[in-house]
Amino acid sequence: MKLVAGNSNQPLAEAIAAYLNIPLAKCSVRRFADMEVFVEILENVRGEDVFVLQSTSYPANDHLMELLIMIDALRRASARRITAVVPYFGYARQDRKAGPRTPISAKLVANIIQEAGADRVLTVDLHAGQIQGFFDIPTDNLFAQPVMVEDIKKNFKIDKLMVVSPDVGGVIRARGLAKRFDAPLAIIDKRRERAGESEVMNVIGEVEGYSCILVDDIVDSGGTLCNAAEALLKEGAKDVSAYITHGVLSGGAVARISSSEMNSLVITDSLLPTEAVRVAKNIRVLTIAPLLGEAIARTSGEKSVSSLFD
Ligand code: R5P
Repeated sequence: MKLVAGNSNQPLAEAIAAYLNIPLAKCSVRRFADMEVFVEILENVRGEDVFVLQSTSYPANDHLMELLIMIDALRRASARRITAVVPYFGYARQDRKAGPRTPISAKLVANIIQEAGADRVLTVDLHAGQIQGFFDIPTDNLFAQPVMVEDIKKNFKIDKLMVVSPDVGGVIRARGLAKRFDAPLAIIDKRRERAGESEVMNVIGEVEGYSCILVDDIVDSGGTLCNAAEALLKEGAKDVSAYITHGVLSGGAVARISSSEMNSLVITDSLLPTEAVRVAKNIRVLTIAPLLGEAIARTSGEKSVSSLFD
C-alpha cells in the first residue's frame, strides 16, 4: 500500500501515515511559471494499491487539479488500484439544478475524478449522501460523528442537551447525533434568498433551557451558523455550541464566529485549519486522521468499512 499526498493538507497526510505506520510516498507537486500543475511521483508504484489524499479546499480549483494530475501520473505509472481520498469533497453543494441554466458541478467533478483514473473514492460527510451515486466507482462516505460523539461526552452534560439542525436539509444528520444521546431534536427553518447569505426564519422545537448543539456538514461564511445561534438564544436556549465536519471558513467567517455568542465551534481537520482558526478562542479542531487511517487500512485489506460505524 502507498499513501501519496497533494498540497492541501500535509499535517493530516502525515498523521494518517503515522496511524498506518508507513511513510508518505515521495512525490513532488509543483507549479510552472504560469501556475500549471506539475506532478512527479518519485518512487516506484507499479502494481501498488495507492491512496491519494487531497481535499478540494481553498484554492479549490488548484487543489482539484492537483488531485486529477496526481491520479493521472499514478495511472500512467501502472498503480494497480488508485483510491482518491478526498476528506472534503468541494463542489458538493452544487448537486442539483438550483435554477434554470445552472450546472450540476458535483456530478461534473465526480466525472473528472473518475475519468482521471480513480478506481475508488473515500470521502467524509458528503453534503448529501446521494452524491455517492454521482460516481460509477465504489465510493465510501465516512462519518465524522463518532469522533464528535466522544468529544460531546467529554464536554457536555448529556441530560439537558438538544441537537439542532440549522436547516431542513440537515435533519437526517442531526437526528443521527440526537439518537446517540437520546436527546431531543430541533430544526431551524432557514430561507436563503441569495447564495452566500442566509436568513433564519423559525425555530421548530422548544429549546428553552437547553444546551443546544448545532450540527452541520459545512461552515463556510458562518452566516447559517451565527444566525441559527442567535435565533436559538432568542428562543431561550441556555447556550449554543456547534459541531461541523468541514471548516471551510471563508472570508470573515472566523471573525464572525469569534464575535458571536456561540460557546464553541468544533470542526475537524478535513481541511487544513488556518492560523486564524488555530488562534480563535471559541474554535476547536478534532482530528479525523485515525478514522481515515482505519478506513484506508480496511479498504486495502478488503475488510468492511461500514462496520467502523456500528
Ligand atoms: C448548506 O446546505 C450547508 O449544509 C451549510 O449549512 C452551508 O453551506 C453553510 O454555509 P454558510 O456558513 O456560508 O452559511
